Amino acid sequence: MNDQELMERAREASLNSYAPYSHFQVGAALLTKEGTVYTGCNVENSSYGLSVCAERVAISKAISEGRKREDFVKIAVAGKPHTGDWQFCSPCGACRQVIYEFAEDGKFQVVYMDKKRAIKSVSIDKLLPDGFRFKV
Ligand code: THU
Repeated sequence: MNDQELMERAREASLNSYAPYSHFQVGAALLTKEGTVYTGCNVENSSYGLSVCAERVAISKAISEGRKREDFVKIAVAGKPHTGDWQFCSPCGACRQVIYEFAEDGKFQVVYMDKKRAIKSVSIDKLLPDGFRFKV
């Protein structure tokens, strides 16, 4: 599946967004090596800090369905105000750390619409240089 198609899945997923506070709907679509797509949307809460981003919902769905870190290829993210058009929306800092957790070889790609409205694909290593990880 190419980046454009995965972005389309992220946009579709954003339609399910629960965002009564920010009115900003986000969708994410995570592609695995076997070709399965796991989608997610942001789910807000009246206790604002409990809101969950679309990317983390998609990753949690995949993990809870049995997918492993080495299965992940790329994740697309799309965001727009409820009444507006698609706009630049790269993963927030918290989501970058969570994506990094599952970037086994640093090759986990992140697909998003940049400020020039072009669909771009960037390795998580570039979005989060020297991300935190530990080994025991
Ligand atoms: N949001 C995401 O879903 N993903 C991100 O990477 C950035 C922010 C959501 C959280 C909140 O529901 C809304 O966008 C506005 O911040």
